Amino acid sequence: MKMLKKLLMLGLFLIFVLPVLGESGLPETVYNQNLPSLRDLFRDYFDFGTAISREELMAVREARGLPYQFSILTAGNEMKPASLLDLQECRKLAQTDETAVAVRFSSAKPILDFAKGQGLRVHGHVLVWHSQTPLEFFKQGYIATRDFVSREVMLSRMENYIREVLTWTAENYPGVIVSWDVVNEAVADGKKGLRESNWTRVVGEDFVLKAFEYARKYAAEGTLLYYNDYNTPYEPKLTVICDLLDQLKAEGTVDGYGFQCHFSVNTPPIAAVKRAFARVAEKGLRLRVSELDVGISTATDARLREQALVYTDLFRIFLDYADQLEAVQVWGITDSRSWRSTEFPLLFSSGGYPKPAYYALVELAEAQ
Ligand code: XIL
Repeated sequence: MKMLKKLLMLGLFLIFVLPVLGESGLPETVYNQNLPSLRDLFRDYFDFGTAISREELMAVREARGLPYQFSILTAGNEMKPASLLDLQECRKLAQTDETAVAVRFSSAKPILDFAKGQGLRVHGHVLVWHSQTPLEFFKQGYIATRDFVSREVMLSRMENYIREVLTWTAENYPGVIVSWDVVNEAVADGKKGLRESNWTRVVGEDFVLKAFEYARKYAAEGTLLYYNDYNTPYEPKLTVICDLLDQLKAEGTVDGYGFQCHFSVNTPPIAAVKRAFARVAEKGLRLRVSELDVGISTATDARLREQALVYTDLFRIFLDYADQLEAVQVWGITDSRSWRSTEFPLLFSSGGYPKPAYYALVELAEAQ
């Protein structure tokens, strides 16, 4: 009897639950082509895209429908130094040359192949960052327990890394990667100045300028180079970001600023976001919304409606800057796969159904 019950449950699972989840756990409902396409609706204003992981992409059913909603992709983790640095190979090379850098693209390839095949654009994320960058990168012989390398060696490693990544991607995927985050999150929170990190420790505060100098040197013609950061609406961070952008602009090495926008309902206040956009936009740089999500505490109807209002208010600001704004990218597709999954921050529910925020954006776009 127990066995029969188990079989029955399994049968029900196979018939009802599995088809909804699709092969990789991301439901096909996301790509239901009876839904309006946000990519199409915002086409005249900016690219609309998402971050995506290799696992999500490798699932055939998901991939098929993806380009229906999104025109540009960012690898959620697969193009960060932690994914691209080949430490084993670096250690071998370091025996004769401490400045040599080896990279490998196995994790990034599925995303780049897919984008190329489907005619989607890719935003590269990220060349230089304090996080998701192995400690070994900064150490003699690429061995964690050894001392830090000198500033000169580190600058050479930085230049070699940037050159390897930019030239390999441009040669193997010409035209696919339209822009790069050259430096991510260099500015400190809550105090004036840069964040202390292995980059400031080993190279010094000019590591940002150097990264952009190298990126400009090796980037394919027309590739847009961005400085990317979060908490843009908060002082003194906003002022430090603006000063940094002025400096990079004077050197001619930066094209734009990426607003991460990991927000929550009421935090930051919309007025503060508006002010931050105005402050950065007046520099005449390109802009992008690189990592949008809006957290709520619980997924009740009331909270989901509040979330929809915040998404609408934010997109009103984005539309005001459409002339400068290259792209708006949400940081993930469904809530359950979000890095903030406990805050239900995206446009599609864990079950893959469009949320009130999605419909609010459709309505907003249609009213333009
Ligand atoms: C996040 C990824 O989404 C997670 O999977 C990972 O565990 C941590 O990094 N700012 C960034 C992104 O620039 O690279 C981060 O992505 C989110 C915050």
